[in-house]
Amino acid sequence: MDTISVIRTKRDGGRLADEQIDWVIDAYTRGEVADEQMSALAMAILLNGMDRAEIARWTAAMIASGERMDFSSLPRPTADKHSTGGVGDKITLPLAPLVAACGAAVPQLSGRGLGHTGGTLDKLESIKGWRASLSNDEMLSVLRDAGAVVCAAGEGLAPADRKLYALRDVTGTVESIPLIASSIMSKKIAEGTGSLVLDVKAGSGAFMKTADDARELARTMVGLGTDHGVRTVALLTDMSTPLGLTAGNALEVRESVEVLAGGGPRDVVDLTLALAREMLDAAGLVAADPAKALADGSAMDVWRRMITAQGGDPSAPLPVAGEREVVTASSTGVLTRLDAYAVGVAAWRLGAGRARKEDPVQAGAGVELHAKPGDMVTAGHPLLTLHTDTPERFAYATEALSGAIDIAPGGVAFTTTPVVLEHIA
Ligand code: URA
Repeated sequence: MDTISVIRTKRDGGRLADEQIDWVIDAYTRGEVADEQMSALAMAILLNGMDRAEIARWTAAMIASGERMDFSSLPRPTADKHSTGGVGDKITLPLAPLVAACGAAVPQLSGRGLGHTGGTLDKLESIKGWRASLSNDEMLSVLRDAGAVVCAAGEGLAPADRKLYALRDVTGTVESIPLIASSIMSKKIAEGTGSLVLDVKAGSGAFMKTADDARELARTMVGLGTDHGVRTVALLTDMSTPLGLTAGNALEVRESVEVLAGGGPRDVVDLTLALAREMLDAAGLVAADPAKALADGSAMDVWRRMITAQGGDPSAPLPVAGEREVVTASSTGVLTRLDAYAVGVAAWRLGAGRARKEDPVQAGAGVELHAKPGDMVTAGHPLLTLHTDTPERFAYATEALSGAIDIAPGGVAFTTTPVVLEHIA
């Protein structure tokens, strides 16, 4: 087999044979296929697509590139959630302890933010002492003791995806449904969860800008999970405006703790509960009541155990940024649009995100929202507060927000569409 014939097959619009897929993934993982060759193949896939059978084989080859985890020794059913990424998406933080409080084991292998989307590990690292990297044994032990664990995926899990994702990120080949679906599902299947709920986001702040693309991605991933014996369902959710009232690391931890304490913004609570119900159903725990576990403090108890088990101090004050700047409403009326992508870029430029994988993030940086689409706003009153340790960044954030806010004069406040748009099984 040679790499150039594999690239040519896809470049010319053909189907990749099983043997070509198995060979190219294995050879790339071993370093035999060069990065520039793999990026040419990824671009050919982005442009010409892959059919269902090719995507299934590609995913299986990525799983086979590394180890598979096994949670069958746990006394509880496992349930996992994966979000395709968005702005202000802190849902894993309240969700993992909540579902664990209802009786499931929640192994949540998470990532770091890149570009305008935040990363769960960056958010949790704003808690003093908290550690993202655990050995497989440590992960199992936290899962057994606390019921939930949120940590970085180990080096051994789908190493082909680890290499390929980093390459796609710098070659403009992320936005391909076959490549995204196989990337996400190879890690989730290798992780060994029994059931999986996918939160597939649609809108300006998501990879998939339209509901049609998000639906196709969701269906592809549900098919892959089901074929591999993982009970998989997806919710299509809105990412046209940020989730909740914060985008940033410590800011989002604070909001998540508010949800665990029984408060928090309506959309965050609604999505947390909707995903929790799906996870509990998929895990066979149909009688569990997640709303009760939020209200009676049992989800908060699991959160504190989970954070403590990973070296964190759940009572320590969260970091706050040294500098703040308020963005006020330019007119009085109804806020009709607050664009998720623009807020994500603003938070990123304030220091909450990174431009390159090795960059540090600022724990306190980000954007706080004082109004959401549908709310009445008053000229001169605060709309957003920008947080950073490096005030020279305010100008970049303000630039990112230009054209992102629409206010309709007069009018009456309205209720926006629910955050959950569709259920796909
Ligand atoms: N998240 C992943 O893990 N992979 C992708 O390709 C896109 C988002």
